[in-house]
Amino acid sequence: MDLFEQLEQVRTEALDNLVTIDSQVDLVTWEKRYFGRKGLVTQQLRSIGSLPQEERKTFGQRLNDIKQELSTAYEAHAQQVKLAEIEAELASGAVDVTLPGRAVAAGHLHLTTQTLRQIYGIFAKMGFEVYEAPDVELEKLNFDMLNIPAYHPARDMWDTFWVDEQRLLRTHTSPGQVRVMRERYPEPIRVILPGKCYRYEQITARSEHQFYQVEGLAVGRNITMTDLIGTLTQFTRMFYGASRTTRVRSSYFPFTEPSIEVDTDCILCGGKGCPVCKYTGWLEIGGAGMTHPVVLQNGGYDPDEWSGFAFGLGVERPAMMKYGVEDIRLFYRNDLRFLRQF
Ligand code: DAH
Repeated sequence: MDLFEQLEQVRTEALDNLVTIDSQVDLVTWEKRYFGRKGLVTQQLRSIGSLPQEERKTFGQRLNDIKQELSTAYEAHAQQVKLAEIEAELASGAVDVTLPGRAVAAGHLHLTTQTLRQIYGIFAKMGFEVYEAPDVELEKLNFDMLNIPAYHPARDMWDTFWVDEQRLLRTHTSPGQVRVMRERYPEPIRVILPGKCYRYEQITARSEHQFYQVEGLAVGRNITMTDLIGTLTQFTRMFYGASRTTRVRSSYFPFTEPSIEVDTDCILCGGKGCPVCKYTGWLEIGGAGMTHPVVLQNGGYDPDEWSGFAFGLGVERPAMMKYGVEDIRLFYRNDLRFLRQF
């Protein structure tokens, strides 16, 4: 048999074999058998050298045509095998196309946001609306209008970051009180003012230079200290649990008179003393008091006709106590191992 005949035989054999193939594995074997490094088609190419010069061209052309024909046939058949395999798989029920897809990994609310929303919900039930005031605040509102003039020693408690000579990052949510009053006069007021506050602080496990507060303000005709204590007692029971009791201590804030500090019996030990309450039996809830006449006046309300109460609550600290978080810095670290726990 001469080389031309051999070539035709390889072609016929290859095509005959191809049509009988019904698996990926056999396709691979087929490809290797004809087109591999030592494959039958590859060998034909090598044999050109042993042909007389004048036959080489014809042989080469025929070989190229056959290569082309075989690889086209291969592609077409491989496609068929693939489809047949998929159909067989579907028919055998190995793929359940009715199964729900994989769930997309969705994020969730930050612990701080969750806590804020709990607080909004509780105060909403008592008729408080949410009022938002800016983070970058005028010095005048952050201090002066709250009865803290430049020479007042209370300013030392609230050192902060300055934006320019008149503006700073608010040290507390209290300046929002004056903003609401000026906007709402002469309506009675019942709002909470949540938001970020900033202080020039050493950052430790217990204090950050940024943190949230929720301020409260009620202004009306006959508002008394009893309303204030009742409101905060109710908040404490709804936030920490129905059996909580509160106590009130005398305190000082320039923008309230009288001023108080509100505590709840420790949520962990119920007052017996433990590491959470540092063995005092009590946890601080926040500062509060009756709105100072000067502040009412700065807001446009006549203190002879109107009275009000105000309070300032932390957000991260209560969340720390409620969920047993030991380091306030975790709230700002964006570490998913922490965030995913809540
Ligand atoms: N602004 C105070 C602070 O940041 C908290 C506070 C105390 C707010 C008493 C009040 C209040 O409204 O009546 O420390």
